Amino acid sequence: MPLTDPKSMFEKAYKEGYAVGAFNVNNMEIIQGIMEAGAAEKAPLILQVSAGARKYAGQNYIVKLMEAALLESDLPVVLHLDHGPDFELCKTCIDGGFTSVMIDGSHLHFEDNIAVTKKVVHYAHERGVWVEAELGRIEGVEDDVAAEKTIYTDPDQAKEFVERTGCDSLAIAIGTSHGAYKFKGDAKLDFPRLETITKIMPDYPLVLHGSSSVPQEFVEMCNKYGGQVGGARGIPEDLLRKAATSGVCKINIDTDIRLAMTASIRKHFAEHPEDFDPRTYLKPAREAVKGMVRHKIRNVLGCAGKA
Ligand code: G3H
Ligand code: 13P
Ligand code: ZN
Repeated sequence: MPLTDPKSMFEKAYKEGYAVGAFNVNNMEIIQGIMEAGAAEKAPLILQVSAGARKYAGQNYIVKLMEAALLESDLPVVLHLDHGPDFELCKTCIDGGFTSVMIDGSHLHFEDNIAVTKKVVHYAHERGVWVEAELGRIEGVEDDVAAEKTIYTDPDQAKEFVERTGCDSLAIAIGTSHGAYKFKGDAKLDFPRLETITKIMPDYPLVLHGSSSVPQEFVEMCNKYGGQVGGARGIPEDLLRKAATSGVCKINIDTDIRLAMTASIRKHFAEHPEDFDPRTYLKPAREAVKGMVRHKIRNVLGCAGKA
């Protein structure tokens, strides 16, 4: 099946109260692990590429790997640019065959965010491409877009932003953050704020970034085999499940993929110090990604069987 855009995916998700997983991809094994998980669970998928991933792997490699993956798949799959820092990169990805892009102007002043988002929407919509934007600030650092402090999304501003820009989905800040160290105190999300946003923007697809749950089994495995990721904590899975039933149609996961792969590779080398064949450590790493993604689809996102 060719790449699809998120429209019908999100309409169904909103109506039926689940979210589609948006998984960050950087190389072949990650793409394969996610695609195999989606096939096993019959789930729709969003594979997303950050500016950093694009720099690492090269856009042509990623697009061609996706084409190869789709040759063996009948799932609905979206190829999405994650945290597009400016119009130019969004344009390059739209021209290169992505079916969805994010323009992240969340670090800009409100009016500047509106201006750049409108520009991307205009270019994308003429070519049938979906646009995600962001309002509010989500803590953590991505490649070219950095936020030092979370600023929760203001519901009235969100409505105005969507009306004035015409963006198709909106990433909101309600307490999630990027990376492996999300909470020092209690882990909580601002559900009353989410409820207010969905009330004043009914049927509008919302996006949650920074939604890794940082499974402690991977943290412990990393640390047991020589890693130093002490104190890493993510979003509890029951909170993500609740968000998925409350207007959030897309949930972004990257850190958990990194942890699953790295834990597996560390374990492999600790147990097989003589090994130097990449296939023998990347195969279990790919399996670890697959297992983790299957778990998310079935028990957290609720999108198993929805392809
Ligand atoms: O939210 C961003 C993703 O985790 C991508 O991270 O810029 O290091 O590829 P990256
Ligand atoms: P995590 O760091 O929680 O996996 O978030 C990923 C993300 O939001 C990608 O855009
Ligand atoms: Zn993000």
